[in-house]
Amino acid sequence: MSDVVILRGPLLNLGEDPFAPEAEGLRVETDGALAMSGAMSGGKILAAGPAAAVLKAHPEAEVRVYGQGRLIAPGFVDCHIHYPQIGIIASFGEQLLTWLNRYTFPEEARFCDSAYAGEAAEAFFAETLRNGVTTTSAFCSVHPESVEAYFSAAARRGLRAVGGKVMMDRNAPENLRDTAQSGYDQSKALLERWHGKGRAVYAVTPRFAPTSTPEQMEAAGALWREHPDCPMQTHLSENTAEVAWMRELYPEAPDYLGAYERHGLLGPGALFGHAIHLTERERARLAEAGAGIAHCPTSNLFIGSGACDVAGLKALGVKVGLATDVGGGSSFSPFATMRAAYEVGWMRGLALTAGQIWSLMTQGSAETLRLQDKIGALRPGLEADVAVLDLQATPLLKRRTSRAESWEEALFALIILGDDRAVLESWSGGKLVHAREDQAGA
Ligand code: GUN
Ligand code: ZN
Repeated sequence: MSDVVILRGPLLNLGEDPFAPEAEGLRVETDGALAMSGAMSGGKILAAGPAAAVLKAHPEAEVRVYGQGRLIAPGFVDCHIHYPQIGIIASFGEQLLTWLNRYTFPEEARFCDSAYAGEAAEAFFAETLRNGVTTTSAFCSVHPESVEAYFSAAARRGLRAVGGKVMMDRNAPENLRDTAQSGYDQSKALLERWHGKGRAVYAVTPRFAPTSTPEQMEAAGALWREHPDCPMQTHLSENTAEVAWMRELYPEAPDYLGAYERHGLLGPGALFGHAIHLTERERARLAEAGAGIAHCPTSNLFIGSGACDVAGLKALGVKVGLATDVGGGSSFSPFATMRAAYEVGWMRGLALTAGQIWSLMTQGSAETLRLQDKIGALRPGLEADVAVLDLQATPLLKRRTSRAESWEEALFALIILGDDRAVLESWSGGKLVHAREDQAGA
């Protein structure tokens, strides 16, 4: 019995960099097909293109047909999210530093308990998959138990998942602090246990410069130097009060990014959340160093942080991914996130195109994690992580998309009007990992 599954229907191909001048934009193969090997045989994409050719090449495959108004698309990649914050999403009325102290830290303190962390991790992946997000790069809590719960829950589902224990040894409640040494030791043990195991990727994760002493920053830099293929994720210049505080804490650094740089935390594979209030020097250094940023527009709006200059940073050559930053971010949905990216784009005077925004939420995010040869697109050889979407999921979506004169127009409407109801199925590594309720058993 063949282990090949073919998904047949309109197939999204993002093409080359949609930020390049004269870029083609979104392309959809209207009668397309995606052949993938099942989870038992590697879960890879075998072919993607016109249905006739793909079907002919794999005559023995099981074929699932998706009709009008459906779209076979790459699974979304959320390159910056805090899984322990699932319970405090949508908390009222504070900006970053107070929000952390009032809502976030008390909740994260509960993740020393493996059972609590395990339940939250299950709920977290149920939510990401319901939204078509097949890879997350997560900040866990300071407790190793929380990392264990995250990677275990991902492994049970066969997901490619990135994550790490936050390192924080100051400016946080005592039950959330490690030390430079214990933060290093615990991170190293978790990295050795999880990195490269199945589809897990360990990310060295100093939370942000204000909650790490220079000694801990140095220890994080040392760990990353010892494992340069791991991503390094942290936060950068999200909020003006944070930037001012950071300057007091690191008076010798030229700027916020400079503090990371001095401790060996800037280079290819470094991924900085937010990166809103940057100096020209920081922008240039991010580009020169081959680093990436995670643009988190719902979070930046929700906790009132500001508007990231995505197009400007892209033009400089900085890698940009798109992320929810839940629980600072107000939604798990990549559609809500892409819509907010469009709106924040206007705050910078620019309308980002559907192709640009969609690419940030898939291959752009994959690139920031240096996983672009594994996830983020539908190309032979990549892992079979797929979101099957429904452009007619609600009466309004159906009304709007059915009068669209191009795929570009229809997909822009989906970005603006879509939510979890527009996610029909999520596939990970060639395995169906979520089906919308009315699809179950289909
Ligand atoms: N900066 C440091 N920690 C956090 C966090 O948990 N959320 C956000 N949005 N910013 C941070
Ligand atoms: Zn964050």
